[in-house]
Amino acid sequence: MTTSASLTTGSAIRTVSHDLPVTPELASFMASGWAPDPVGGDIRLPVAGLTPARRARLSARFPGERLLVPAGGLTVRSNDCDHRFRPHSAYTWLTGLAGEEQADHVLVLEPDGPHGHEAVLHIRPRSARADEGFYRDRRHGEFWVGRRPGLAETERMTGIRCVALDGLPPGRNAAVDAGLASVLGELRLVKDSWEVAQLQQAVDHTAAGFEDVVRALPRALAHPRGERWIEGVFGLRARAEGNGTGYETIAASGAHACVLHWTRNDGPLDARELLLLDAGVETGSLYTADITRTLPLSGRFSPVQRQVYELVLAAQDAGIAALKPGASFRDFHRAGMRVIAEGLAEWGVLKSASGDLHRRYTLCSSGHMLGLDVHDCAQARAETYLDGVLEEGHVLTVEPGLYLQPDDETLPPELRGIGVRIEDDLVITAEGARLLSGGLPRTPDAVEDWMGGLIEAHAR
Ligand code: GLY
Ligand code: MN
Ligand code: MN
Repeated sequence: MTTSASLTTGSAIRTVSHDLPVTPELASFMASGWAPDPVGGDIRLPVAGLTPARRARLSARFPGERLLVPAGGLTVRSNDCDHRFRPHSAYTWLTGLAGEEQADHVLVLEPDGPHGHEAVLHIRPRSARADEGFYRDRRHGEFWVGRRPGLAETERMTGIRCVALDGLPPGRNAAVDAGLASVLGELRLVKDSWEVAQLQQAVDHTAAGFEDVVRALPRALAHPRGERWIEGVFGLRARAEGNGTGYETIAASGAHACVLHWTRNDGPLDARELLLLDAGVETGSLYTADITRTLPLSGRFSPVQRQVYELVLAAQDAGIAALKPGASFRDFHRAGMRVIAEGLAEWGVLKSASGDLHRRYTLCSSGHMLGLDVHDCAQARAETYLDGVLEEGHVLTVEPGLYLQPDDETLPPELRGIGVRIEDDLVITAEGARLLSGGLPRTPDAVEDWMGGLIEAHAR
């Protein structure tokens, strides 16, 4: 986001060296004979009724200032191939637009009198059939990348006035940019009921993906890169039901589970070990779940695996019990970590539960806001987030873990190489918190029963 942006929006056509030349005869033939644009029915986005209030809250924070919120641009993967595009979350939150065709588009809030703003969307018009870009431009030509909504159509979808993307005045102000980013992060902290429903949908698709993974375990166990097999199975569900995964899937078997963000996923599975699966489906509206389950690959926890799992579960229970409006954001982390520290002391791993030495085995903070981004509202100031208090409508994860490194000589040998994280998604309610991910089992017995049922039914 910026108070002013400079974009490469010229008419340069992207071609590559192996494109065949176009003869004048072909160019002339391509320029005509196309049917008129079909007129759509009711194309208003379901969220379009909610975005004006969101923009009004932003407008009220910057009276008289021109605000630019770009969707962001395409980035080259190599030659004429781009990475898949996903609009910036603030742009999607303010417009409801979430598609790949939003690359380079910019929402401008033009000051409209001393107090308010008029929202204007600067968007790329459809490919004119008489222009060679229609069939020659690999980046934006509709012959190459598909139809996109035009100006009038996008106006009907969003309720926002649209103009052709045609270069916006350059210039940036880093201080204002940072301020705008943090205000947008803070405005997005409390979710409305439509957003909570989107998050519930993301969680439900994610739960279905976890079930797919369990059913696929026999094949994954037989594959030399079983972790990749699991990543692929979950990715299929994510791509089929939503936009894809909300972050890189962590499919970590055995000691890989002790690596907090193990996304290489290139290891085999060993039936004697645990699998830590941290994955989330992102909906078409771009809301993501973020769930972790740690599963015994044999279908049954060994005694020592169960011991570690139960301590993490007790920490998660304590964290969840601390969630309520008015509690400080750090309370649930403190509650969970107290349980972990006491457990480690009881096992004799730590001499005492006081101090912060337990962090060697658990390290990361045990939860974060969740929404359009997996680590949502990351630009919010500490006083409203990390040092703030919970409010009804906050959605967050509670995800304590124990990561007992395989080369950690402070641990008894039988504990080394075990990594457990349990991560659930919750919405803060008037009374406390509601578990969005309660469709997936959490206790060791329930995990074993659930796995047994799925694998058995699949084998029949
Ligand atoms: N999947 C990243 C996290 O749990 O924060
Ligand atoms: Mn998380
Ligand atoms: Mn996670």
